[in-house]
Amino acid sequence: FAFTDANLAWADAQMTKYPEGRQASAVIPLLWRAQEQEGWLSQRAIETVAEMLGMAYIRVLEVATFYFMFQLSPVGSVAHIQICGTTTCMICGSEDLISVCKDKIAPKAHMLSEDGKFSWEEVECLGSCANAPMAQIGKDYYEDLTAARLGELLDELAAGNVPVPGPQNGRYSSEPLGGPV
Ligand code: FES
Repeated sequence: FAFTDANLAWADAQMTKYPEGRQASAVIPLLWRAQEQEGWLSQRAIETVAEMLGMAYIRVLEVATFYFMFQLSPVGSVAHIQICGTTTCMICGSEDLISVCKDKIAPKAHMLSEDGKFSWEEVECLGSCANAPMAQIGKDYYEDLTAARLGELLDELAAGNVPVPGPQNGRYSSEPLGGPV
C-alpha cells in the first residue's frame, strides 16, 4: 500500500494541524483516507499509517478494529451492508434482515458474494433506533426495513440503481406515519 500523491499531500496537511509530537491525533483521518483509496484497510495500509504517525502498529490496529466504519477485509464492489443487531433493531426484526444477507450475499459476515458485489456484517447500534430495524448500506442509512424491502434494495443496487435512503415505510422521523403532511 502507498498513498497516491494527492492523498499523501492531504495526509501531510492533516498532520500539520496538530502540535509537534501529537501527530498521532491524525490517526482516524489517515485511516479513513487509506480506506477511501483502497476500499478497505489492509495490514500494509495500517502499517503505512503507523509509520507516518510514528505510532506502534498495534496502536493503529486498535483504532481500526474499534470502529465499524473501518473494514479489515475486502468489501463488495457495490456495497457493504451493515445490519444493526442491537436491542431495538433485534426486537424489530434484525435477525430477518441478517437472514436475507445470508441468503442473497454470503453465508457468513465479511465474505464477498459470488459476484463480488456485496458483503455484509452485523454491527452495534448506529443511533437510528427510532426507525428500527435499520441498516447502513455504503454510507447511507436505510430505516424501517423489512426483510422483503432489504431484498428489493439489494436487487436495485445490483442493477446499478441507488435507492433513496431513509425510512423505507413512508414515515419521516417524528412526522406522522405516511410521511410529511
Ligand atoms: Fe439499531 Fe439503535 S438499536 S440503530
